[in-house]
Amino acid sequence: MIRGKFITLEGGEGVGKTTNLEFIKEHLQQHHIPVVVTREPGGTLLAEKIRRLLLDADSEPLAEQAELLLMFAARAQHIKHVIDPALAQGNWVLCDRFTDATYAYQGGGRNMKISTIEWLENFVQGSLRPDLTLLLDAPVEIGMERARKRGAFDRFEAEKQSFFERVRRAYLLQLELHPERIKLIKANQPLCDVQRAIVDNMRVLLR
Ligand code: TMP
Repeated sequence: MIRGKFITLEGGEGVGKTTNLEFIKEHLQQHHIPVVVTREPGGTLLAEKIRRLLLDADSEPLAEQAELLLMFAARAQHIKHVIDPALAQGNWVLCDRFTDATYAYQGGGRNMKISTIEWLENFVQGSLRPDLTLLLDAPVEIGMERARKRGAFDRFEAEKQSFFERVRRAYLLQLELHPERIKLIKANQPLCDVQRAIVDNMRVLLR
């Protein structure tokens, strides 16, 4: 059985991840590729419970170490029970956020040490890394405006603009560090142009 490919979709708040996730799924299905669509934090029963703890805006203040460890606890469940088995069976996995989000939000947003995140990444994932990461990028104000229109804020959405500026910078640093894996998609352009860029960047995998 040929192992499937692992694709992740990343970006700050309100950059259009949900719309484009659906588009990528349909694009893969048109190529007759079996695809499992999932998300982080979440993707299993337990990991979705952890997601609720992480996003709950009314909880006691979460220590940043607890936040980081909960992200990786959810990820460990997700990899073991969903991602690894799906890839081993030849499915492709399309995941809404993965560890680049940890570098961006916990590393950039919360200023946590990158070496700690790297250690956890290796501990939890072993050699598992995405084959392709599509990074949707837009100026922070544009994304925040879109997120605001969606209504009530979760614990992350309630953060200040400066937090999201650090998140965006950290994502762009990940792009610089892994240019072969991460592809930049400019999200503040008409949807048809966003989707054309996505198709262009997926071509290498679909050959
Ligand atoms: P979502 O609502 O965009 O799916 O993501 C949930 C929130 O979790 C989002 O604000 C980003 C945050 N997040 C992290 O802070 N670190 C991570 O590792 C992941 C996967 C998500």
